[in-house]
Amino acid sequence: MMHVSKARARTNIALVKYWGKRDGALNLPAVGSISMTLSSLHTTTEVGFDTRLSEDTVVINGRPAQGRERERVCAVLDVVRQTAGAGHRAAVRTENNFPTASGLASSASGFAALAAAAARAAGLELPVSELSRLARLGSGSAPRSILGGFVELPAGVLADGSDCVPREILPPDAWDVRLLVAVNGRAEKAVGSTEGMERTKGTSPYYRQWVETHAADMQAAADAIRARGIARLGAVVESSCFKMHASMMAATPPILYWNGATVEVIRTVRDLRNAGLDAYVTIDAGPHVKVLCPAAQSSEIADRIAKVDGVERVIVERPGPGVEILT
Ligand code: DP6
Repeated sequence: MMHVSKARARTNIALVKYWGKRDGALNLPAVGSISMTLSSLHTTTEVGFDTRLSEDTVVINGRPAQGRERERVCAVLDVVRQTAGAGHRAAVRTENNFPTASGLASSASGFAALAAAAARAAGLELPVSELSRLARLGSGSAPRSILGGFVELPAGVLADGSDCVPREILPPDAWDVRLLVAVNGRAEKAVGSTEGMERTKGTSPYYRQWVETHAADMQAAADAIRARGIARLGAVVESSCFKMHASMMAATPPILYWNGATVEVIRTVRDLRNAGLDAYVTIDAGPHVKVLCPAAQSSEIADRIAKVDGVERVIVERPGPGVEILT
């Protein structure tokens, strides 16, 4: 017997960053985070529990998953099986409509889609808190992709993580902003986020300050989003981004995700701001720069960024929906 379900989740980009864990086993973050769920970059995942399978099969973009990637998927499936009280193995097929592991947050959309599809295929109707717990086992940024629009994920303090549950700050259609994704390289990242976070926590002299100054950024960003204040939000977005990168650059050995075009886009955005436009950068564990701006200025800003040497293309994203069950 076979129960198949398919789900789609969009990636999200953190405006206030998550970097560091308070519990590695449960994958609980040391700091909260605030993100925008995107509209177009997404993962579609199909899960079928099948009595005839002797082990889980996991295929990502047409390739069988291996090692740590596969283990993370199986960890999510194991919890779904425990919760459903059923032991069947699963066939998982997942497709991104963009490159994997390139700093475009494929793990966030991937594990949000997996959590929703696996739960549904096992016949479970789970609340956001439970879907989020499943998604978090795969990736700390994935709970944010369960919800749409502007999302806050508190770090929480409880050992079981029951207070680390995403909540909506504003729904997708409540604020007409854009995130421009300036794609400038395809290399898979040299240092994965999990390893990078552990190294930063263990060796960076700035890690403690990163954690200690974080709560104020969370508050300021949430207030700015509610007030639809782009300049106020942009200031916090840039500060959180550069604090995170500064703390990892100071780790041993240093972690640097940027390339030359990353810096050129940062400089171009500063020039645009000096010329009176509202554009603000953020960068994740990869070379691409994402630029937050109001919808009305997005074509002008996107045109300028597209001309920067090394930028291959600019993807224009608006606030998008939370995870959806397709079948
Ligand atoms: C820089 O969620 O990929 O994108 O929990 O170890 O899987 P793990 O890390 P991951 O880290 C995301 C880091 C970031 C910032 C963010 O999205 O908040």
